[in-house]
Amino acid sequence: MEYRQLGKWGARLSVLGLGSYLTIGFKVGLDESRRMVHVAYEHGINFFDTANAYNKGLAERMLGQILAELPRADLFLITKVWAPMGDGPNDRGLSAKHIREQCDASLARLRMDYVDLYMCHRPDPATPLEETVRAMNDLARAGKILYWGVSEWPAWMMVKANGIARDLGARPIAVNEPRYSLLWRHPESEVFPITRSEGIGNVVFSTLAHGMLTGKYLPGAEATPDTRAGDPDQNAVMRRLYWTEENKRKGQELVQIAAELGTSAATLATAWAMRHPAVTSVILGTRTSTQLEENLKALEVQILPEVLARLDALYPTPAPVGGA
Ligand SMILES: NC(=O)c1ccc[n+]([C@@H]2O[C@H](COP(=O)([O-])OP(=O)(O)OC[C@H]3O[C@@H](n4cnc5c(N)ncnc54)[C@H](OP(=O)(O)O)[C@@H]3O)[C@@H](O)[C@H]2O)c1
Repeated sequence: MEYRQLGKWGARLSVLGLGSYLTIGFKVGLDESRRMVHVAYEHGINFFDTANAYNKGLAERMLGQILAELPRADLFLITKVWAPMGDGPNDRGLSAKHIREQCDASLARLRMDYVDLYMCHRPDPATPLEETVRAMNDLARAGKILYWGVSEWPAWMMVKANGIARDLGARPIAVNEPRYSLLWRHPESEVFPITRSEGIGNVVFSTLAHGMLTGKYLPGAEATPDTRAGDPDQNAVMRRLYWTEENKRKGQELVQIAAELGTSAATLATAWAMRHPAVTSVILGTRTSTQLEENLKALEVQILPEVLARLDALYPTPAPVGGA
């Protein structure tokens, strides 16, 4: 396993991490979840990603139960706050109150006395950034979190929050968690350069575009019910962002390029995301330990310049917003 520094900060994360959205504690039961976590750990993965909102706390509960079997010092755990956890006016967002309440609730569900990194799952325009920065700093001072971070915040907001943190003498953002894949290259234009200049690491998600980049969805065919695309409980985001005939066709070309390298499309797409110097870690979202074993082979894939050029031609970088 390769370990990368978390931006400019001291912690080192495995370049592949294991996530738990729609899988652990939701579509995947305890036995297979335990198998996945143990396969991950045995391969040197030290970074696990979850959120309070993943199946309303049940992902944290199951992941916490399994991680309790492993040495705490070996683990780097991210959980998140922001999404609604109840119907009350303070059961969502990034207010000091909700952050404090949810951090304690997450720690209980995870069976941990601190989380390594606590993350703002999305921006909350109704709460001043200063309040959120102070709330995160207070949690760190109380020993409940070590670092804090953000997910899918615009670059300007990260810079502004870090400026506020500097003025307050509080901890700045240590990590950003953006969507990033061959089918979603937007972070390359602004988010990656700015996070690098701020010393913020990037742990990236949906690097297989929910499975579209595995090539398993064939042109002209509907998805089978045992896949994410074929399951109405989990396919809303995927259908909205990636479900086109063109993407299915491109998936077949990706399979072909990968086959020439003696690997699979899933493995090549994972290795491609890892190659970017702004990326600290790629969060794998596997549903089975077999998928996990396959995607771990990305560690062995070298992407030479001519392959990179073919992938660029197949999945071009989108023009920057406001640019040509
Ligand atoms: N910060 C955020 O807002 C945010 C948002 C989303 C995710 N995340 C994190 O990032 C993690 C990964 O996200 P994601 O689940 O969207 O990732 P993804 O890797 O794009 O999609 C994972 C899905 O792809 C399919 N797949 C994976 N490997 C495969 C293989 N080798 N062969 C065939 N199919 C394969 C599986 O779906 P099937 O069910 O079809 O087998 C799997 O559930 C999550 O678990 C979560 O921790 C964070």
